[in-house]
Amino acid sequence: MASGTGLRATALSREYGTGPTRVMALDQVSVHLRPGGLAAIVGRSGSGKSTLLNVLGGMDTPDSGHAELNGATFTGTGPRKLTEFRRDRVGFVFQFYNLLPQLTALENVELARRLPSRKRADVPTSIELLERVGLRDRAGHFPPQLSGGQMQRVSIARALAKGPDVLLCDEPTGALDSASGVEVMALLTDVAREGRTIVAVVTHDPAIRDLADHIVAMRDGRVVADSRPPVS
Ligand SMILES: Nc1ncnc2c1ncn2[C@@H]1O[C@H](COP(=O)(O)OP(=O)(O)OP(=O)(O)O)[C@@H](O)[C@H]1O
Ligand SMILES: [Mg+2]
Repeated sequence: MASGTGLRATALSREYGTGPTRVMALDQVSVHLRPGGLAAIVGRSGSGKSTLLNVLGGMDTPDSGHAELNGATFTGTGPRKLTEFRRDRVGFVFQFYNLLPQLTALENVELARRLPSRKRADVPTSIELLERVGLRDRAGHFPPQLSGGQMQRVSIARALAKGPDVLLCDEPTGALDSASGVEVMALLTDVAREGRTIVAVVTHDPAIRDLADHIVAMRDGRVVADSRPPVS
């Protein structure tokens, strides 16, 4: 593996508010997420997990520190470059799916597939992506006609539709019953272990902690434990 491989953040800080309301959401956070296994970001409510995910995905900008994907720096590059980075390289999965209810499952995936400016030849078709998440037979359903677990699997297909280098998931099982949560996690673990996409999941769910290959534990905006797998 090349030395620049992965999503590497160094000394990221992010402060919200001023004076008495000032919060250090991230305080000198360094992490290195690599392809090949599932990374879990864990910690109590308010520990900075979502803030870290947002900075790693180019949705938020740190006050200081540095982050790079496969050797290319994306922090401090300005809004245009950051938009390009987010659009072309990063897939997001959220707790409440955020599917467009007036589009079918297939159309939700297809819309995302057309988004990147950087076309990748190896991205599967939208129907193949639905097949990948076990929902080929639900392609024509609208989100309100799907279960929570099915909607989350469509949103994973949608996130994969741009052929992202990184898939960032914030509490992807937070709204699901445990059986659907297990299915969603099995899918994310598979995607991670295929090794083409870096996958990080923010979670409160202890079951995910058990599945993860790499655990980053946060408290008060800091990384307090980092069980990294050995470099291969
Ligand atoms: N936009 C914002 N404005 C002000 N403070 C914020 C903002 N976003 C986050 N914070 C604060 O930063 C800290 C970290 O928040 P963050 O959302 O990253 O935590 P979290 O670990 O994801 O929590 P949860 O598990 O509840 O989702 C919290 O104290 C929060 O109140
Ligand atoms: Mg959060």
